[in-house]
Amino acid sequence: MARVFNFGAGPAMLPTEVLEKVRVELTDLNGTGMSAMEMAHRGSDFRPIAQQAEADLRELLAIPPNYKVVFMQGGAQAQFALVPLNLLGSCTRADYINTGHWSKRAIAEAARYCTVNVAASSEHSNFTTVPPQSGWQLSEQAAYVHYTPNETIGGVEFPWIPDTGDTPLVTDMTSTILARPLDVSRFGVIYAAAQKNIGPAGITVVIVREDLLGRARTEVPSVFNYKLQAEDNSMYNTPSTFAWYVSGLVLKWLKDKGGLAAIAKVNERKAAKVYACIDQSGGFYRNPVALDCRSKSNFPFTLVDSALDATFLEQCQAAGLAQLQGHRSVGGMRASIYNAMPEEGVDTLVQFMRHFCEKHG
Ligand SMILES: Cc1ncc(COP(=O)(O)O)c(C=O)c1O
Repeated sequence: MARVFNFGAGPAMLPTEVLEKVRVELTDLNGTGMSAMEMAHRGSDFRPIAQQAEADLRELLAIPPNYKVVFMQGGAQAQFALVPLNLLGSCTRADYINTGHWSKRAIAEAARYCTVNVAASSEHSNFTTVPPQSGWQLSEQAAYVHYTPNETIGGVEFPWIPDTGDTPLVTDMTSTILARPLDVSRFGVIYAAAQKNIGPAGITVVIVREDLLGRARTEVPSVFNYKLQAEDNSMYNTPSTFAWYVSGLVLKWLKDKGGLAAIAKVNERKAAKVYACIDQSGGFYRNPVALDCRSKSNFPFTLVDSALDATFLEQCQAAGLAQLQGHRSVGGMRASIYNAMPEEGVDTLVQFMRHFCEKHG
């Protein structure tokens, strides 16, 4: 079967060039006669691959030298627990901003370890906005402030980075990391599961400011202790060597594309095309999010009549446009468009949506 344009939220599309390279190298990586899956993680064959991936990530995001990069397992939701466990130290309180599904999950998990102050929420708008910072009720004694810059399900994205003064800002960047340049120095901790913009599921990137290491509670499992993992180059336990290797190829691909400034321009164009299609459909398609905080990665939308949903999805599939159904908790449709989605895929989707609207509108 021909390769499809996959609009799934994650695991998401990987660059075709990367998959082709993986295919070629699968049984013989760098003349070793082995695949990355079989290499000793600390051995001389794998070490340069691991180091290059970190170096490329550092270069792409311009990560300052006083930040450690840790490659972990457990995905973003493990971080919902590991952030409080690693950062609370002797504090008993943390501030959270609630902008929807993934913030709520992060809050519920953190509440198992500390008192969570929900300093702001956009629940009153059914999570179609982000709460302006002027209304945030931050605590005096919070160990950190946590927010979700892009809610992957609701399709709502902060157009600004919060300013939390001396309190470290912690962010779940799973669905926007590497989509555009970022000022890493604004954050205490940035974490992101790989399966959208970094590589295959099975690896989680944690970028942590050095002065925040060493605050872990004693009950943190050693393999999930940021400091221990940072000291051991993320090899305290056996990492997912394959996911690390493929992530390295994705990072190299991104550099070859011109880096984050270049990909950001493409992402802007792709997002503009999708929103123009929705907004110019005369109400046939609708996206509920306030204009200034519409996501540039995840585009939820509904059809004017939900009785058309099944036909829409069937015809999408037939046209090679895969995984457009909305998240099971909200229904409707959702197009997730990350770095690896070529502009041609977006053009094909938009053309399909216009034709569908003409026929059924
Ligand atoms: C913003 C965000 N946070 C957390 C998660 C959960 O990630 P994981 O399944 O790796 O725990 C997702 C997954 O889609 C996400 O988009």
